[in-house]
Order: sequence, then C-alpha cells, then structure tokens
Amino acid sequence: MSETKKVVVTGAAGQIGYALLFRIASGQMLGPDTKVHLHLLEIPQAVKAAEGTALELQDCAFPLLEAIHIYDDPVKAFDGANVAMLVGARPRSKGMERADLLEANGAIFKPQGAALNEGAADDIRVLVVGNPANTNALIALHNAPDIPRERFTAMTRLDENRAVAQLAGKLEVGVDDVQDLVVWGNHSPTMFPDLFNAKVKGERAADKVDMGWYENEYIPRVGKRGAEIIEARGASSAASAANAAVDHVRDWVLGADGLRSMAVPSGGQYGVEEGIVSSFPVRCSGGEYEIVEGLDVGDFARGRIDATVDELKGERDAVRGLGLVP
Ligand code: NAD
Ligand code: LMR
Repeated sequence: MSETKKVVVTGAAGQIGYALLFRIASGQMLGPDTKVHLHLLEIPQAVKAAEGTALELQDCAFPLLEAIHIYDDPVKAFDGANVAMLVGARPRSKGMERADLLEANGAIFKPQGAALNEGAADDIRVLVVGNPANTNALIALHNAPDIPRERFTAMTRLDENRAVAQLAGKLEVGVDDVQDLVVWGNHSPTMFPDLFNAKVKGERAADKVDMGWYENEYIPRVGKRGAEIIEARGASSAASAANAAVDHVRDWVLGADGLRSMAVPSGGQYGVEEGIVSSFPVRCSGGEYEIVEGLDVGDFARGRIDATVDELKGERDAVRGLGLVP
C-alpha cells in the first residue's frame, strides 16, 4: 500500500533545486511505494522561476507526484512536512571559503528552524545542504526546540562520494569495491576522509595506499573538490550535490548497507563536543540513523578529527555572537 509524504525543498529555483526536484518526483529518493507532495519554498523574487520548474515537473507526468505547491512563506511551506531539504542559501564564489557565508546564510536558518518547529509533522527529517551546512543545521535545530535534535542533519555525502570516486580511480577498482569510507567533521577543507576504517575489496584501504599520497594529495583533493568545481564550472556543484542529497535522505529513510557519512548532532561520541553538528560514521536502518562507535581512531585520525571539530566550534561561537544560537 502506498503512503504520501510532504517533501519541502527550499531554494527550489536554484541550480541544485533544478537537479533535485525531478529525482524526488520520480521516486528515486523515497522509493516506488511513496507518493510525494512537493512544497517549493523560494524568496518572492524567485517564485516565478519556481513556477516554471513546477510546469516542467507536471510535464514529466511522474506517477508518484501527487501535488506541487509553491510558497514564499516558510511557515506555510513547512506545515505538515515529513522531509525538509534546506538548500536555499547563497553559494560561495571563487576565492571564498564556505564559512565566509556564515553571516549571510545563517540568518536564513533561524526563521526556517522556527517555522519547522511550528508546523512540521512528528516524523520530520531535515537535511541542510546550504553552506556552511553543519553550522546552518546547528542554527536550525536550536530554533526548533520541540523537534528532537537528531532529526537535523547536514550533508557530507557529497564528500563521501567524492572520496570513494577518488580512491577507486587511484586504485583502479570499481566504486562498488570501496566500502565504509566515512568523512568526519566539517563540510570544509578540514574534513577528514578516513581510509583507516574504509575497505577496498574487503581489505583496509589505508594499507593499499602510500601515506604521503594520502596526506598530501588525497585529503586535500577531496577537501577542496568544491573549489575545484567552482574553478572549472564558474559555479558550484549542482547535479552531484543533488545526487548526494538524494543518497542521504534515501539511505536515512529506506536504510543502507555499511557505514555512511552524515553530519549529525554529536552526543559526545569520539570526544566530539556534545551538540556540535559534525560528520560521523553512521548506520541507517528502519528509518533511523545511529552513530557507529568503537571504530579505530589512531593518532593521525585523532589530530585530523580534533582540527575539523575545532573549526566547527569556532563557527558555533561565531553564530552565537550573531545571536543565531543561544
Ligand atoms: P543557487 O544560487 O543556484 O540557488 C539558491 C536558491 O536559494 C536561489 O533560487 C535563491 O532564490 C534561494 N534562496 C535564497 N534565500 C532563500 C530563502 N531564505 N528561502 C528559500 N530560498 C532561498 O545556489 P545552489 O547552487 O543551488 O546552492 C545552494 C546552496 O547549497 C549554497 O549555499 C551552496 O554553497 C550549497 N551547496 C552545498 C553542498 C554540500 O555538499 N553541502 C554542495 C553544493 C552546494
Ligand atoms: C561543494 O562542496 O561542492 C559545495 O559545498 C559548494 C562549495 O562551495 O564548494
């Protein structure tokens, strides 16, 4: 028997929105048994463009797409929402770091957190994509005190997918041969792709690569891939970001094999300060995720995780200074 879910996509008229909405409406995110009501949230100036995208969605005649509504008011858009994908935010341009967007974008997530708190469904699941994603998720969750904080997540799946593709390319194996490759920390150049717990054809990935390459080429390549894309395209990643957003929500809702990367509020695991939204190894099953404990964290990994978490604490302090979190 099929059920219906309300999925809100903010920034629906943007470049990620355009790559994302058709995937959701086709059933690739919530599966073939779930009908979808799409709620598109935009700023007033972009509502007309969102209406154009809605016309195209209709023209696809997707059997699972039951309704499309367009809003410029977050309270109306999030009313009854089961899944909220918070994409709408400014992208960085060449030469900027994602943290440079904190002030401009952080202010978007305070009212959106409050609007989710006011009207979202009891089973709401939130994915923040807009940058700086971890700290925007922190802002949203602090402004939604009635929603369990673990329902707020931010996207590091794009980083995981990049890490898998880069490793598979180097070792000349298929991407399916790489398992449990988790990225820890912030969606920023300090992120830590962990080859100590990853496996390639069942063997420890760290044993298959040269440590100099790992430290000096692989980690920076994965961490700065977003900037490489901006340099090449003249615009930030869009289709790969939308693909990762679909992967993140699909695995959360429908379950997945192996370890995955999700930025989620820390419960203090691995020494990460409680409450910080950091990427962790998680396992998804039965519509829930769980941070996987007991993985090997040696000195090298410890230093990297501490550095990326310190950066997140700095971002938390900055948005505290802006009055966006208590
Ligand atoms: P874009 O500029 O093409 O689209 C952003 C859209 O958001 C615009 O249509 C804009 O009108 C809308 N918007 C702005 N403020 C809004 C608000 N308050 N409510 C609703 N909509 C609003 O940008 P994009 O390329 O789609 O990227 C969106 C965000 O995603 C950026 O912050 C980008 O840096 C980020 N991003 C994150 C990842 C990740 O891995 N976490 C990957 C790629 C991009
Ligand atoms: C990415 O990683 O591609 C996005 O976060 C966009 C960016 O600014 O790098």
